Amino acid sequence: MTAAADALVVTDLRVEFDGFVAVGGVSFDAHPGEVRFLIGPNGAGKTTCIDAITGLSKGTGSVTLGDQELLGRPVNKIVRLGVGRTFQTASVFEQLTVLQNLDIAAGLHRSALSLLRARRGVDPSIETALEETGLSAERATPAGILSHGQKQWLEIAMMLVQGPRALLLDEPVAGMSQDERTATGELLQRIAERRIVLVVEHDMDFMRRYASRVTVLHQGKVLSEGAVAQVQADPKVQEVYLGTAGAATTTGMLAVAESTPAMTDAATQGNGA
Ligand SMILES: Nc1ncnc2c1ncn2[C@@H]1O[C@H](COP(=O)(O)OP(=O)(O)OP(=O)(O)O)[C@@H](O)[C@H]1O
Ligand SMILES: [Mg+2]
Repeated sequence: MTAAADALVVTDLRVEFDGFVAVGGVSFDAHPGEVRFLIGPNGAGKTTCIDAITGLSKGTGSVTLGDQELLGRPVNKIVRLGVGRTFQTASVFEQLTVLQNLDIAAGLHRSALSLLRARRGVDPSIETALEETGLSAERATPAGILSHGQKQWLEIAMMLVQGPRALLLDEPVAGMSQDERTATGELLQRIAERRIVLVVEHDMDFMRRYASRVTVLHQGKVLSEGAVAQVQADPKVQEVYLGTAGAATTTGMLAVAESTPAMTDAATQGNGA
C-alpha cells in the first residue's frame, strides 16, 4: 500500500450544466490522516464536486489520486483506481442481508473464481468491514430493517470492502440521532487514519467536532479554507451564513461559534424555514 503518499488533489475544477457554472474553478486537496470537510450553503456545488471526482459529471481542470488523473475516466475505472463514494440518500439493497450487500459490493473487485471461493466462508475484507463499522452482529439482518444510522454504516462498509484509497461521503449524518452521529464521526476518524476521507456535510456541529481541515464553497467557488476555528472566524464565511442576503438560503448551515451566543440564536431561528 502506498497510502502514506496518497493524495486527492483537485485543481481548478469546473463543471457546467448547459452554460450554468455549478463549479467554477475549485481547488483543494485531501490526505490520509485528516478528516477533510467540504461545506457550503445549498447549491454551493459540493455534490457536483464529488460527482465530477467520481466521473458522474463531466468536469475540466484536474483531479488526481496519487499519480493518476481521474478526470475523463469512466465511473467504473475511477472505482477501480480506489475512489468510493456514498450518496445523499442511502442506496443499499433493502431485501438483502447485510452480508449479501457486502458480498455484492466486494464482487466489484473479484474474479469469478474468487467469488466462487468466497462462498465457502466470509471474505476477510468483509469481516474487517463488519468489525470496523460495528455491524458484525447484524450480518444476517435484512438491510431494510436496519436503523437509519446502520444503513449509512452499511454503505460505508460497502465502500470499505472495495479497498478504497479515498472515500467521499455526501451528508453521511443527515437524519441520524446524536449517538449515531458520534459513532459515525469516530468511524470516519478511524477510517481516515490510513485513507483519504472527504465529507460533505450540512451539520455544523458535526463538522466542528470531527473536521481536521475545511473548505467552504459558495456559488461554485472556494470561499475559505483552513482549520475549523480559522474558517469559523472568517468574516466572509460569517457573511454567507449569517448575512441578510444569504440567511434565507442557508437554512441549517449557519456557522455557530461557541463563543458567539448571538449566532446560536440566529441558527435556531433559521432552522424552521
Ligand atoms: N444535473 C444538473 N443539471 C443542472 N444543474 C445542476 C445539476 N446538478 C446540480 N445543478 C446545479 O448546480 C448547483 C450546485 O448543485 P449541488 O448539488 O452541487 O449543490 P450542493 O452544494 O451539493 O447543495 P446541497 O447542499 O443542497 O446538497 C445548483 O445550483 C444546482 O441546481
Ligand atoms: Mg449536495
